[in-house]
Amino acid sequence: MSSTPLAPAAAGTIAAEAARRRTFAIISHPDAGKTTLTEKLLLYAGALHGEAGAVKARAGRREVTSDWMELERRRGISVSSTVLRFEYEGNVFNLLDTPGHKDFSEDTLRVLSAVDAAVMLIDAAKGVEPQTLRLFEVARARRIPLLTFVNKYDRPGMEPLEILDHLATVLDLQAIPLNWPVGIPGSFEGVIDRRTDLFHRFTRTTGGATIAPEVILDAATAEDSDDPAWATAREELELLDAVDEEFDDVAFRDGQATALFFGSAVSNFGVGPLLKALVELAPAPSPRREIDADGEPAGERPLEAPFSGLVFKVQANMDPRHRDRIAFVRICSGRFERGMRVMNERTGRSLAMAHAHEVFGRERSLMEEAFPGDVVGIVGAADTRVGDTLWLDEPARFPAIPSLAPEFFMFVRNGDVSRYKQFRRGLEQLDEEGVVHVLRREAAGDPVPVLAGVGRLQFDVAVNRMENEFNARVRLEEAPWNVARRTEPGDVPTIREATGSEVLVRADGTHLAVFRSEFVLQRLERDHPELTLDRLLTR
Ligand code: G4P
Repeated sequence: MSSTPLAPAAAGTIAAEAARRRTFAIISHPDAGKTTLTEKLLLYAGALHGEAGAVKARAGRREVTSDWMELERRRGISVSSTVLRFEYEGNVFNLLDTPGHKDFSEDTLRVLSAVDAAVMLIDAAKGVEPQTLRLFEVARARRIPLLTFVNKYDRPGMEPLEILDHLATVLDLQAIPLNWPVGIPGSFEGVIDRRTDLFHRFTRTTGGATIAPEVILDAATAEDSDDPAWATAREELELLDAVDEEFDDVAFRDGQATALFFGSAVSNFGVGPLLKALVELAPAPSPRREIDADGEPAGERPLEAPFSGLVFKVQANMDPRHRDRIAFVRICSGRFERGMRVMNERTGRSLAMAHAHEVFGRERSLMEEAFPGDVVGIVGAADTRVGDTLWLDEPARFPAIPSLAPEFFMFVRNGDVSRYKQFRRGLEQLDEEGVVHVLRREAAGDPVPVLAGVGRLQFDVAVNRMENEFNARVRLEEAPWNVARRTEPGDVPTIREATGSEVLVRADGTHLAVFRSEFVLQRLERDHPELTLDRLLTR
């Protein structure tokens, strides 16, 4: 289909614009320092006008935004993902935020389908924590190139060699340090850049609010300075050089090896080198894999092809000042221009991208033009769902974003007959956004919908939003299942016959077999090996 005439962007322009994009996420366990590091990356990129602290100031403003953000604030967790876009030395960074709490792992899964790289953030004292592990597994399964930042090196923690060992043991991940810390954890002086052999010595600034002054010494000068910490670091590096393998770009790009950096976000040490490494190592957008109507691989969409994008997040009512619905689209090919009409591959309907916003945290500004790797928030994108492919001129279809099998189930009842419409509309919206799965026991003739998720906090968010945004009243009641698998319609009768099993259906037609226990599932698998019982659901 065609849109209003646009000046076609030359293929060369699109390739050049894509080449300077870096689209990534930070994955970490809560408290490892993601907010601090984000803020410091902005500071070093020159994107914070004024001093660091602005992100927190922005975060503070959340208090007046909406009720479910109130929930977010009260719990001290990040519920929704936001996108930060900033420039650094001619490059455009898109930093996609991921919720830290495990109950929102589904959101993270979606975000990771929209990035080209990730920074894994680790607390030097705590090492790999449960949520780091969970997110790492998703990143590895998706073969996302990983840069690892060992944070809080200004405090006592593991020695650098110990950290290498830790990553190899816990994650089976080869970590190749690209810089090496000088000074023990807790007495951190700076880093030696292994590629240049230069010693970057940092000086602390008050509260880490401004860029840490840095003195760069070559090996000879550092040696003359008689710094015992430097001498120790050199010895360790020599040890490492003797056994370490070269940085393997192929293994890195495949997510099998990680580039390792040491630093302290709070005192700004090592933030500059990480930012530079993101430019040098993190891959720019590349052609995206496509599938055909049967879900079979169908080549790749070249970057220079007409516009295409993947909806990886849909969110309504982010801000009561703008009561609306935003679809977050990762651009995969071509040039986006505000006002374009594109096709939604799933619905076969066209969509006007008249109100596209660039999103900086929770602030919005109009976006006129964007390129592969960028994320645009399309306002008022009715009828879009997570996983939808949008395209211009030449049809495209990207693989569905996987979702996780739910482990928690609740019957949800309308608590106020006079507000049935609000109840129904709210559920529909939550389902489309993927806040929770909304399922129905179709054949059993039971009209009570079932909410399902990977964590109980999803239900808190759902109830909060139903009540505050949709003015509905809901009552939740524990449902008897705790395991789910995706199944095929043909398998439904056999599953329903088994004791302790049920089949629920999602609005998109996905059939979910649910079980009262792992044991019930195993028994069914044993008795009926022919059944489809998939752990990963696609949305
Ligand atoms: P998160 O988003 O991953 O949850 O972590 P966040 O940045 O909020 O950091 C969690 C705590 O760790 C904060 O302390 C923060 O100051 C501290 N932190 C972050 N980076 C470093 C670092 O490099 N070194 C040290 N020593 N601490 C670091 P807080 O006491 O919870 O908050 P605040 O009062 O300091 O802001």
